[in-house]
Amino acid sequence: MALSIRDDDGVSNPSSNRHLDAVIDRAAALSPNRRNLLKSGLGLAALPFLGGLAACGGGDDSTPSTPTPPAAPEARLGFQAVGTSTADSMLVPAGYVATAFLPWGTPINQLAPAWNSAATNTADDQEQQVGDNHDGMTFFGFNAAGNGFGDRSDEGLLVMNHEYINPEYFYAPGNDPTDWLAPFTYEKARKGQAGHGASVVHVRRGSDGSWTQVQNSPYNRRIHGNTPMRLQGAAAGEAALQTSADPSGTQVLGMLNNCGDGRTPWGTFLTCEENFNGYFGWNGAHTSTPLENRYGVSGSGFGYRWHTVDPRFDVNANANEVNRFGWIVEIDPFNPGSQPIKRTALGRFKHENAELVVATNGRVVVYSGDDERNEYIYKFVSSGTFDRANPTSASNRRLLEEGTLYVARFDAGATVGDNMGSGVWLPLVFGENGLTPANGFTSQGDVLIRARQAADRVGATMMDRPEWVAANPTRPGEVFITLTNNNRRGSSATPTSNATDGSTTAGSARPAADEANPRANNVWGHIVRWNETGGDATALSFDWDIFVLAGQPTVTGGRAPSANITLDNLFNSPDGLAFDSSGRLWIQTDGSFANSGDFQSMGNNQMLVGDPVTREIRRFLVGPSGCEITGITWTPDRRTMFVNVQHPGEVGNHPNRPAGYVDDTWLSNNPTSFSQWPTAGARPRSATVVVRRTDGGLIGT
Ligand code: FEO
Ligand code: CA
Ligand code: CA
Repeated sequence: MALSIRDDDGVSNPSSNRHLDAVIDRAAALSPNRRNLLKSGLGLAALPFLGGLAACGGGDDSTPSTPTPPAAPEARLGFQAVGTSTADSMLVPAGYVATAFLPWGTPINQLAPAWNSAATNTADDQEQQVGDNHDGMTFFGFNAAGNGFGDRSDEGLLVMNHEYINPEYFYAPGNDPTDWLAPFTYEKARKGQAGHGASVVHVRRGSDGSWTQVQNSPYNRRIHGNTPMRLQGAAAGEAALQTSADPSGTQVLGMLNNCGDGRTPWGTFLTCEENFNGYFGWNGAHTSTPLENRYGVSGSGFGYRWHTVDPRFDVNANANEVNRFGWIVEIDPFNPGSQPIKRTALGRFKHENAELVVATNGRVVVYSGDDERNEYIYKFVSSGTFDRANPTSASNRRLLEEGTLYVARFDAGATVGDNMGSGVWLPLVFGENGLTPANGFTSQGDVLIRARQAADRVGATMMDRPEWVAANPTRPGEVFITLTNNNRRGSSATPTSNATDGSTTAGSARPAADEANPRANNVWGHIVRWNETGGDATALSFDWDIFVLAGQPTVTGGRAPSANITLDNLFNSPDGLAFDSSGRLWIQTDGSFANSGDFQSMGNNQMLVGDPVTREIRRFLVGPSGCEITGITWTPDRRTMFVNVQHPGEVGNHPNRPAGYVDDTWLSNNPTSFSQWPTAGARPRSATVVVRRTDGGLIGT
C-alpha cells in the first residue's frame, strides 16, 4: 500500500481494467443494489450494457476532446496456467523462472558462520543466520541516493518473517532412538528462539536480472526471540504486562510466531505475532485463568519445551510474560539500530497479517484477522492523519500509536442464502458497548490485552479462521480476506458461542453456519470480500459477498464450491493473500497436500491469481513437497516477485511420504528422505523464491 510504489505502466494500466471498474461504480451509483451483482460473475453478462453506458456519455470526465488511441490494456491473468504437481520441485508458467534465495541458515553478513548441513549450528550461530519458516515479506526499494526508503527496483531491503521452526530438521538428532530432541537443553531453546523473528537483508539485482545479498551491508540484521523491543500504546505499562524482569511493563525480549506482514507508507515493516501461546507452558500444578484459556495457553504448548529450561516461558514462574506477545510489531529496516515497537493500539490476538491502507480522509487503517477457528476480523483506525507531502515525517511515524480498534459483524443482508450481505464495525472502546468495569474491563489497555473477550462481548461474528487481508489498491474500500477452513461449527440446533465473562477456552465455541461462513464443515475454505461504505476505509459499515468457495466442482449441495472453481484451478485452504499494484489478487495456499479424497488432484500447495472483476482464478505456481506457499512482494517495477516457500519436507499425509517413515524422530535421522528442496542432497529448508520473466516483463501480464 505504500504510496511510493510506482507502477511503471502507470499510463497504460488504468485503461480497460480501471475503466471497467469505474463504469461499474457509476452503474452501481445509479442503482446501488447492482454493485455486488455487477461485480459477481454476472458482471460479464452485463458487459454490453456497461459498454453502452460508457459510450453514451458516462465516460471519464477526463476524456480529452481529441480522442487518443487507448493504450494496450494490461492483462490481469496474462500467463499460461500451470497444472497441479506432487513433485519435489517448483512449477511456474512458461516464460518464467524461479530461483531459490536466502534459505534458512544463510549467513546474515560476511562475518556470520556458514550453515552446517548436519544442523549442528549453535544458538549464537543461528542469531547471525537467516531464520526458519519464511513467511510474510516486503521489498523496500532504496531511494536514488541509496541511503533510505524509496522507489528503486534494482536494490533494496528484503524483510521477511520467520514464523516458527521445524524441530525435526532444525536440530541435529541426539542419541535417543525414541526422542531426537532429548536431552532438551537451554542451548536448544535459545537456538529455537534465534530461528524465529525476522531478517532484514540488503539485496541487489545484477545486470542479468539475478539477485544477490549485499554481504557487507550495515542494514543486514536479524531480529529474533531475544531481541530487545518496546511495548507502546494504551496497554504498555499495564499491570498485566509487568514482569519481575521488567516492572515497567514496557520492555520485552523478542517476538514470536511472526506470520504475515504489512508495510507502511513511511517505510517500516509490520510483523504479526500469531500462535504465540504455543511457546509457553508450565511446570508443576497450575490453575488456568480465563485470559490464559481464551488465548489457548496450555501446560505443554505446541511441544517446543522452552518452558522446561527457560523460566521466561514457564507460566508458573512468569505469569505475565505471555501477555507481552500477540501484538503487531513495527520495525524500521532503514535504521538498523532502532528497537522494534509492539503497537498495542492494534490489539492482542493471533494476528495473521496487517494490511495498511491510507483512507481517503487521510487516516491510516490496518486490517488484521485472528487466525483461530471461530475468531474475528479487526481494523484499527488511526487518530491522526497521514501527511502525504512528507511520507517519512516524524508525525507519520507515530500514526500507529493511537486510534480506535474495531471488530467486524457480518449480517445476512436483505436476502438470506445469496452469499452476500451487510456488516458493521463495532468499536472496542473502554466504557462503551458493555466494555465496562461492571463487566470486568478496567481500562483501554485491558480491552486491548483481552481483545478476544472484548470482541465476544460486543457481538462480533465468528469466522472460519481469518487469515490474510488484502485491500485492492485500484478500488478504494474493496478488501478481501481468506478464511482458510473450519471443522468446528456446530449444527444449527446446538450452536454455542464464547462466554461473555471471558472464560471460554480458545476455539471451543461451535457457532452454526451463517451467511458469511456457509459451510457446517468448511474443509476447503473460502474468500470473502467487503466494500467499505462510500469507498472509505474508515467507514463503520460495509457490504460483503463471497468471492470464492474452494472445493471440488463434482461436489453438489451444501458443500459445493462456487462457479469460479473448475477442474483447472483446484485448491484448498487459501491463506496468503495480496494485491499487486495493478489489482491482481494473488492467493497462496496452506492446506492438505494429500492429493486424495476431498483433496484429489489438488497436489502440493500453490499460488493462484484471481481477477477481482471477473472472478476468474488461474494457477500460477506450485511448490515442492510438503511446503506451504506464503509471503509475497514485488519490486516497484513488478519485474521481480519474491515468494516464500515455508516448511518444505513436512511429511503429513503427502502421497510421496517415504516408505520407512515412522515419526519425527525417524525423519530427524533421515532428513533427506522426503524433500531435498532447494539443495539436492541436503535436508529441506524454507527459502525465498525469486520469480522473473525470462523476457524481463511485468509479472502476471
Ligand atoms: Fe501463520 Fe495463520 O498462518
Ligand atoms: Ca444475504
Ligand atoms: Ca498463514
